[in-house]
Amino acid sequence: MSKRTVLTGITTTGTPHLGNYVGAIKPCIEASHDENVQSYYFLADYHALVKNQDPQRMQQSTLEIAATWLALGLDTRRAVFYRQSDIPEIPELTWILTCSTAKGLMNRAHAYKAAVQENLDAGEDADFAITMGLFSYPVLMAADILMFNSTHVPVGKDQVQHLEMARDIAQRFNHHYSELFRLPEAVVEEHVAVLPGRDGRKMSKSYNNTIPLWLPEKQLRKAIMKIVTNSLEPGEPKDPDDSALYAIYAAFASPEQRADMREAYREGIAWGQAKQQTFELINDELIQARERYEALIAEPEHIEQELQEGAVRARAFATPFLDKIREATGIRKLV
Ligand code: TRP
Repeated sequence: MSKRTVLTGITTTGTPHLGNYVGAIKPCIEASHDENVQSYYFLADYHALVKNQDPQRMQQSTLEIAATWLALGLDTRRAVFYRQSDIPEIPELTWILTCSTAKGLMNRAHAYKAAVQENLDAGEDADFAITMGLFSYPVLMAADILMFNSTHVPVGKDQVQHLEMARDIAQRFNHHYSELFRLPEAVVEEHVAVLPGRDGRKMSKSYNNTIPLWLPEKQLRKAIMKIVTNSLEPGEPKDPDDSALYAIYAAFASPEQRADMREAYREGIAWGQAKQQTFELINDELIQARERYEALIAEPEHIEQELQEGAVRARAFATPFLDKIREATGIRKLV
């Protein structure tokens, strides 16, 4: 079992935006073509439940994110693509791991600590509105990862601590029972630029500055026209390294296109023209996938079928592996 196993989860809390595409979806789909890698990509709906308690939004987000990965060409015969909640072995493993997890380790989780701090700052009780779901989030995530004996986990910087916790939990289990788990590593893509949003800050739902991935053409153009620039006039040289618009262009451009656009900035391209070119570049990249996306959304049965098939393949690994894990803990048949 020496093959690299790459695994990552996407929480089903919202609508995919350009930042998700550039920073996660596109590199993951590309990586899944590597013959020497087995990839597992899944919709982390149990994780989403911590934040998203609106049933309609949960289902809609699951639909949109699944359709996105399929429309962008994820090859589901190679990669295993599934919904977390279709794999009952994951919550089972979560409990087993919960019993090997130090509470003190969870107390140190950044997300939990930030929630406590926010409460204290607001003069509330430290535990106000904090659920056990939020507190135990890292254990569920460790179960996602360890369930498939993953070796490499592509994540954003904010998730690195969760990977350290998964290793810690795996090591405790291995030490106490038997060496069943490989120790996973976080893969943080430093060279994948963090895409700025319309206002220049990191593109993120929490800043409300995102450009949704699947806007119809006209609306996409409008959204790009609204990216904030400065007041330099046409003909005045512009600094590409101080421009959210350029950073967004660059994330979609080839090295030659980037060099040409940098030159155009220095020569004083008008903002309106730079925006038009940025729109055309992004729209060309998405135009065919957008048609597939719309067709998929109109046919959720097909998406559901893909997820069911993915679940069967995921469980082909998870079921026997969980048997071994249970066996190791002494939870086993008497004879
Ligand atoms: N917590 C991750 C995030 O917010 C999502 C996630 C859930 C995940 N389970 C995972 C990522 C397992 C990698 C591996 O981005």
